Amino acid sequence: MRNICVIGVGYVGLVTGTAFADLGNRVRALDINEERIANLKKAILPIYEPGLGELVERNMKAGRLQFTTSYQEALEDAEFAFICVGTPEGVDGEADLQYVRAAAEEIARLMKKPLIIINKSTVPVGTGDWVANIVRENQKEPIPFAVVSCPEFLREGSAVSDFFNPDRTVLGSMDLEAADRVAQLHLPLRAPIVVTDLRTAEMIKYASNAFLATKISFINEISNICETLGADVKEVATGMGYDKRIGPHFLEAGVGYGGSCFPKDVKALAYMAQVHGTHPQLLQAVMDINDYQRRHVVRKLEEIWGGSVSGKTIGLLGLAFKQNTDDMREAPSITVGDYLNGRGAKVRGYDPVAMKNAGKIMPYVEMVDDPYLLAKDVDALIVLTPWNEFKQLDMRKIKELMKEPILIDGRNLYEPDLMQNIGFTYRGIGRGYDGTKTNG
Ligand code: NAD
Ligand code: UGA
Repeated sequence: MRNICVIGVGYVGLVTGTAFADLGNRVRALDINEERIANLKKAILPIYEPGLGELVERNMKAGRLQFTTSYQEALEDAEFAFICVGTPEGVDGEADLQYVRAAAEEIARLMKKPLIIINKSTVPVGTGDWVANIVRENQKEPIPFAVVSCPEFLREGSAVSDFFNPDRTVLGSMDLEAADRVAQLHLPLRAPIVVTDLRTAEMIKYASNAFLATKISFINEISNICETLGADVKEVATGMGYDKRIGPHFLEAGVGYGGSCFPKDVKALAYMAQVHGTHPQLLQAVMDINDYQRRHVVRKLEEIWGGSVSGKTIGLLGLAFKQNTDDMREAPSITVGDYLNGRGAKVRGYDPVAMKNAGKIMPYVEMVDDPYLLAKDVDALIVLTPWNEFKQLDMRKIKELMKEPILIDGRNLYEPDLMQNIGFTYRGIGRGYDGTKTNG
């Protein structure tokens, strides 16, 4: 059993803290957001994440997991402090490190015994050294410490299972003894552990996210070529995926990647490259394709109507940036909704869990309680999030409810032939000419 302090209880911090408590450690999780902590003390979670609520409750009851707003309390017995605060996009695309700085300063002021500071937030290359300097400069008296980079690779919506079944753990430090102690914490996860220097570990995180985003933009570009040539991108991806060098993952064409990480991390990596005199051509193309792809679903609608969406009522099926989350950060639905609203369309929306968050960002969207209410009298439906429950809808009923049976499937959830047989004017992403599988 180790004493661990986790700083920042968002997606990464709450999952990390709870999971380490579940592995038998004593965890104090801290946040400056008083409302979050007050709720967590009552086991009320600030985020929707499958399986996390039960785990939080169980570990709180067992006395292994505590929440606090006090750095003093959180650091009291801590041997390890995980920094898990946000690193949002800054004004020029760089990562904004103000929260990391604040956390490092507080750690320095209030640590009472030797400490291993572990950076889990996604931070620009060089931040580990910068954090070490901040701590050194702000300590009242010199107390030994080490900084270890341990980037996080979990995905929202499957965060708990990703944490317990990682593909690898990456640890970067100039202090090999510290890296080894952090490795010990991760041994129960039985994943390969890559130990390297600080900067390389920080780069592994950005390179991994940028590569995954590149795969998505690649398949989206292929999907556009498929549309002009009459090929089916889903089958193309399946055919490619069997090649072990390519792999089947992250080849789903759609409305482009969203979320709190890919958009900001690709931008931040491109920014780092640019300020250091490198021209990040591929990263720029990845971002350009993603911007283009987000509006592709609307272009399909305009094409069907031979012009503007003005005066039409359009239903957005799914609002969250992906399934199994209520996170709306950089969700493609915002780009689509804003575009439609800006051109005089009436926008209606439904999502199983993200409507509350979405309503704050898109106040013009009329939120409804279920997909059938969404379909009633709309001129078109656009699928934006691949929730499982959408696959089981009674599509005949949906079609009957709509004013015009136009279905734009931004996530390729449905089979083109089936939808056309039901009577929809159906457009998928990259599924042959106009969404049909016509040969030619
Ligand atoms: P988040 O916005 O959900 O949570 C961040 C939390 O930090 C908030 O609760 C905030 O109140 C708190 N905080 C801010 N400043 C603080 C301070 N000085 N002291 C204590 N708490 C403070 O963020 P997130 O999505 O969990 O992301 C955290 C980091 O992890 C980011 O760098 C992100 O890029 C990275 N990351 C995120 C994911 C993900 O799936 N969300 C996955 C891997 C890595
Ligand atoms: C992503 C990475 O997958 C995690 O490894 C990483 O830890 C995390 O970013 C992070 O750094 O925060 P996440 O953003 O939660 O995780 O979700 P993903 O499943 O990667 O999806 C990201 C976006 O890409 C979503 O909008 C999703 O719909 C889209 N996507 C994903 C596609 O359009 N096609 C695909 O084939 C896969």
